[in-house]
Amino acid sequence: MESPPPPLPPPPPVPDAVPHASGSFLPSFVADNQLFQGGLGLMGIGAAVAVARTGTLWASNILRRRMLVSLEIDNRDRAYEWFLAWMAHRTSGAASASRSVSWIRSHELSVETMIERRPNGSSSVFFQLVAGPGTHWFKYRGAWMQVKRERETRSMMGGQQAGMSVPWETVTLTTLSRDRRLFPQLLAEARDLGMQGQEGKLVIHTAWGIEWRPFGKPRRKRPLQSVVLEPGMSDKIEQDIKAFLSRRQWYADRGIPYRRGYLLHGPPGSGKTSYIQALAGSFSYDICLLNLSERGLADDKLNHLLSNAPERSFVLIEDVDAAFNKRVQTSADGYQSSVTFSGLLNALDGVASGEERIIFMTTNHLERLDPALIRPGRVDFSALIDNASPAQARELFQRFYGGANSQVAADDVEVLARKLQEMAETKLKNGETVSMAALQGHFIRHSPDEAVARCPELFVSNTGILKKDL
Ligand SMILES: Nc1ncnc2c1ncn2[C@@H]1O[C@H](COP(=O)(O)OP(=O)(O)O)[C@@H](O)[C@H]1O
Ligand SMILES: [Mg+2]
Repeated sequence: MESPPPPLPPPPPVPDAVPHASGSFLPSFVADNQLFQGGLGLMGIGAAVAVARTGTLWASNILRRRMLVSLEIDNRDRAYEWFLAWMAHRTSGAASASRSVSWIRSHELSVETMIERRPNGSSSVFFQLVAGPGTHWFKYRGAWMQVKRERETRSMMGGQQAGMSVPWETVTLTTLSRDRRLFPQLLAEARDLGMQGQEGKLVIHTAWGIEWRPFGKPRRKRPLQSVVLEPGMSDKIEQDIKAFLSRRQWYADRGIPYRRGYLLHGPPGSGKTSYIQALAGSFSYDICLLNLSERGLADDKLNHLLSNAPERSFVLIEDVDAAFNKRVQTSADGYQSSVTFSGLLNALDGVASGEERIIFMTTNHLERLDPALIRPGRVDFSALIDNASPAQARELFQRFYGGANSQVAADDVEVLARKLQEMAETKLKNGETVSMAALQGHFIRHSPDEAVARCPELFVSNTGILKKDL
C-alpha cells in the first residue's frame, strides 16, 4: 500500500501591512510580528535541521558501513530488464492484490517501447513505464529498499561499429543487511514474471549491434502441423534434431564441435521460414534471426553473433545466397555493406565452443550457393521445400476448411480436397505448380467450392528448382 506523502511545511506567514503602534515597540514587535516570529521559528528549525543532518550523516555512514547491503545489476544482465519490468508491474497497481510490495510513487519514469512487426507489414507498439534514472523507494515484504537507477553516458557498450551505442546502466538495490535474504526472492519473482510472458511463446531475437536482443513481444507458437510439408519431411527434420540433441556427450568424447547446420531451399512461399519458427516453438527454443543482406552486417560482426547466440536457440540465416553476391559494395569510407563468402564460412566454422549450436539457413537459390558451404560441418542436412505437391495442396485444404469448427460437412471437404489434389496432379504433369503461400492466400479469400473452382488460375509454369517426377 502506498504511504501518505510527508506533510508539507506550513505556508509562510503573511506579514501585517503596518506594525502596531504601541509604547514598547520591540517586545510588542516581536510578539506581534508574525514575520519575525516566523524568522525565529525558522532559525530554530534551521538549527534543528543542521543538527539532525549531522546526525543523519553520521548515522547514515554507520548504517551504510555496517547495516546496509547493496545489490548492483547492470544492463548486460538479463535480470536488469526483469527487475525493471517487475517494478513497473508492481507500480501499475496490477499487483496490489499480492500485498508483498508497496511503493512510494515514482515521479521519474522512463518509457520502454517495443515495436512488433508482423510479416504482413503491420506492426504494434507497446509502451511500458519503468522507473527512470534516479532514486526510488519501495517496501518489499516489510523491508524498505532503495532503488537507484544510474546511467553512465561516457562509457558505451556494444555495437560501436554499427554506429549504435547502448549507455551503460545499473540499478542498485539497497536494504538493511538483515533483509539481504530478500534479494534472491525478489529476483526470482522478477524472473518468473519476465518468463511468464514468454511461456508457450516464441521469442525472436535480432542482432542489435553485436548483441542479440529480443525483438518485439513473444509470439504465439505456431503448431508444427499447421505448416504442411511433403509427407515425412517434417518428421525427418524433427528426428534429426532430436538425435543431435541427445548426442552431446558423443560429440564431446570425440572432440567434435557440437553443432549442426540445416539448409532449407526452395521457391519463395513454400513454408521454409514458417516451418523453422514452428519447429523452434515445438522444441521451446528461441529464434535468432539474421539477414545477411542487412546493411551494417559485416564479417566480424557475423562471427561474433554466431559465437554468442543465446542458449536454446536456433540461429536462422535467411537468404544465405546473399553472401555469394559477388558485388560486395564498399562505400567511400571503406565500409563493407555485406558479408563475404569467406566471412560466412569462417563464422560457421567459428571458434569451437562446448555450446551447442543449431543453425538453419534458407535460400530461394540453391544454384547460387558455393559447394564449400554445403559440406558437412557447415550444412549437415539439406532439404528441398518445394511448391505445393498435390498431397500438400490437399492437406492444406483439409486443414483450412475441415476440422471441428468447420461450417462445411466433413464429406464435402473430403470430396473437394480430392478434387483439388487431382487438379494439382494434372497441372504438375503439364509443368505447372502453385506455392503454398498462394494457396493459403486463395483459401482465405474464398469459400471451399469457390476455392476449388477458381484454383486453376493460380498455377504457373513450374519455376521450382527441381521438377517433381510423377
Ligand atoms: N507448407 C506450408 N504450409 C502452410 N502454410 C504455408 C506453407 N508454406 C507457406 N505457407 C504460408 O505462406 C506464408 C509464407 O510462408 P514462408 O514460411 O514465409 O515461406 P518461405 O520462407 O518459404 O518463403 C506464410 O504465411 C505461411 O503460413
Ligand atoms: Mg522465408
